[in-house]
Amino acid sequence: MKILGIETSCDETAAAVVQDGREILSNVVVSQIDIFAEYGGVIPEVAARSHLEAMMPVVKKALSDAKCDWDDIDAIAVTHAPGLLGSLLVGTLTARTMAILHDKPLYAVHHLKSHVYANWLYTNESENTEFKLALQAARPSLTNLNSVFSDSPQFPLLALVVSGGHTQILYMKEHNHFEIIGTTHDDAVGECFDKVAKILGLPYPGGPAIARVAKNGDEKKYRLPHPKVEGLDFSFSGLKTAVLRAVQKELGLPISHPSHDLKNHLSEQQIADFAASFQKTAVNILIDKMKQALTLYPDVSTVVLAGGVSANLKLREEAEKIFRGENGSVYFPAPSLSGDNGAMVGAAAYFEIQSGVQPTDPYSLNIYPRISIEK
Ligand code: KG4
Ligand code: ZN
Repeated sequence: MKILGIETSCDETAAAVVQDGREILSNVVVSQIDIFAEYGGVIPEVAARSHLEAMMPVVKKALSDAKCDWDDIDAIAVTHAPGLLGSLLVGTLTARTMAILHDKPLYAVHHLKSHVYANWLYTNESENTEFKLALQAARPSLTNLNSVFSDSPQFPLLALVVSGGHTQILYMKEHNHFEIIGTTHDDAVGECFDKVAKILGLPYPGGPAIARVAKNGDEKKYRLPHPKVEGLDFSFSGLKTAVLRAVQKELGLPISHPSHDLKNHLSEQQIADFAASFQKTAVNILIDKMKQALTLYPDVSTVVLAGGVSANLKLREEAEKIFRGENGSVYFPAPSLSGDNGAMVGAAAYFEIQSGVQPTDPYSLNIYPRISIEK
């Protein structure tokens, strides 16, 4: 079964063709990062306008890269929730129109489901080479790196979804069954990476920038607090403020000193040390909660990482170290599939169909900028 997946929930215009939920036949992503790097963040109206420009060429390329025409496509799937309103509208209306025009069943997919299902996709070897080498350098004991990519996650499992808008732990007892067992009370961890990057004068998106400069930093240099949040929930707004205060203290400036000016006083080494210390703390917070979750769900031996922040190498290394063992396995998407893409939408729709989900009405499909994965 070939599904055309369309994703426009934030600032990536993406379309892909996926066969039987796992095999990527094409995967086209047009990112708006270059536009928003200048602004230091996403501007919703600008994002919607650039989706409008890129949408049809991206769909066309996804079909031609997959060597498909419309007759080969069995279904269309689209992200209809959650995300930026204007961005969701462009993808959803495109999918509705295509479904009517080409008489295809249409499936509406929740964005976080798609991120989780990126773990069922496989890509060609070359794409993973750089990551494999980095992982092997970090963990020489890990000899069979192919196992990290080839098989698929087993149920029941716990998924840690970490993106720019969400930080959740999901319990999945089977396909298409998601129970939120932990969530953030305020900022998402990706948002925290982005805000800390801004304080340090690093470009948007902050996650990759922090990871890059952290390589030259001392992660033990600054001690940052772990938030005290009950159960499996998270809080990241305090960590961002803790970095802000630590930077002001390091520079001998009062807490009233504007955060946007601090970068002008920091040395390259200080930026690297703050980035490394912050990254280590954020990763430890996530790993600690997952450890706690595993003790509460003793039936689970599989951990899955998902969402933009799951591209973070430090998080992957720690997850490997802690959750992979004789009885435990850990999965994360190929780095190119951690961020927003259309292939994960096609994968999620395939497993929804396998679970008996019926197509949606292309004349009335709506968007939901904020809706839980459990709805
Ligand atoms: O899943 P995603 O592409 O979009 C949302 O659904 O939000 O996630 C974007 C987030 C951004 O906050 C970005 O800074 C973060 O993922 N991110 C990273 C890394 N790559 C992207 N965070 C930490 N380390 C990375 N390597
Ligand atoms: Zn996302």
